[in-house]
Amino acid sequence: MDFTLSEEQLMIKQAAKDFAQSELLPGVIERDETQTFPNELVQKMGQLGFLGMMVNEKYGGSGLDTLSYVLAMEELSKVDASASVMVSVNNSLVCWGLETYGTEAQKEKYLTRLASGEIIGAFCLSEPEAGSDATSQKTTAIDKGDHYILNGTKNWITNGKRAEVYLVIAQTHVEKGHHGINALIVEKGMEGFEIGPKENKLGIRGSDTHSLLFNDVKVPKENRIGEDGFGFKFAMKTLAGGRIGIAAQALGIAAGAYELALQYSKQRKAFGTEISNHQAIAFKLADMHTKIQAARYLVYQAACDKDAKKDYTLSGAMAKLYASEVAMETAIEAVQVHGGNGYVKDYHVERLMRDAKITQIYEGTSEIQKIVISRSILKD
Ligand code: CAA
Repeated sequence: MDFTLSEEQLMIKQAAKDFAQSELLPGVIERDETQTFPNELVQKMGQLGFLGMMVNEKYGGSGLDTLSYVLAMEELSKVDASASVMVSVNNSLVCWGLETYGTEAQKEKYLTRLASGEIIGAFCLSEPEAGSDATSQKTTAIDKGDHYILNGTKNWITNGKRAEVYLVIAQTHVEKGHHGINALIVEKGMEGFEIGPKENKLGIRGSDTHSLLFNDVKVPKENRIGEDGFGFKFAMKTLAGGRIGIAAQALGIAAGAYELALQYSKQRKAFGTEISNHQAIAFKLADMHTKIQAARYLVYQAACDKDAKKDYTLSGAMAKLYASEVAMETAIEAVQVHGGNGYVKDYHVERLMRDAKITQIYEGTSEIQKIVISRSILKD
């Protein structure tokens, strides 16, 4: 497979890198500490087209391919994974889901505003008792003719408070199991919809994560995505692509940690020389570099599969599994290379280490990726 990047792809990568250095890097430590992320920064990401990268231009997007998207995700994630998770959820889960399965009316009403970054969306599948076991939805959407009545709780929702539009997965026909699940578009401000307290997280602390409470929320039927009962398939198909975005995020965290470790090791002296001259450090750098490149190829492969309209469930799961392991391992090693300095906030690597952990958990844990991968390779 030839992964030579086109001029346009290189430009997008550079634009994301420039934005990350000039706009995300200043204040990233403070945002992590205060668990905040200013709206102006989100707006800037929207203006630069990062929030609707793969959406057709007629719906306000940038009309780019998935490879361009993962290139941008890698660069943003090197510096601020809280910013890149917003980008990933809005692009892969919300915009892609709406563009692929939404009605024309839904696209006009919601997608154009989401893709341009005027508003942000959230994807609401997880529940207190349905994280990995996503078929066990307890949130109900009872069919009342021209509308649904939505009741239940969603947990760990990225963009939980900032979002204006929520794609909510809920059970309509309990007797049909996962074939009775629907995906509904819920708007902030609908009566009975409440946003729970913010989670105090280990990492990606700039991104707002909340539980959501639905108490007899009336959702018009025209807000259902796809046919009656399509909700679980919708969630699975959407997540299959989402995993490519998170794989790219993990790759970026790994690459960011590696670049900091490399730079530091060439400056820091111990035992009379730069620490990069000690094999103990040089071998760590060699391992990091090799594994990051392997992860990058897996991420690019998954993105290219999606662009080529091939099945990307397997390649996306492999990319996410491996890139997230490399992110965790590399970030831990980058802290080690920094020694005592790695343990304090100013050097960034401790944040990257905390941020890396979530990539092994959200959009399916590593164990879930192994289920997806093993089922795929065993089915033939
Ligand atoms: N594409 C299309 N359909 C799919 C699919 C895919 N990739 N994966 C599964 N399905 C379909 C199956 O074909 C099956 O349909 P039929 O019954 O009609 O044949 C149906 O979905 C159920 O599939 P399974 O029998 O395989 O279901 P399961 O319960 O055994 O397990 C699972 C499926 C893969 C473990 C799934 O539950 C899963 O992915 N769990 C993890 C959920 C997850 O990723 N949550 C993340 C929350 S979102 C998030 O984190 C966002 C964020 O904030 C950043």
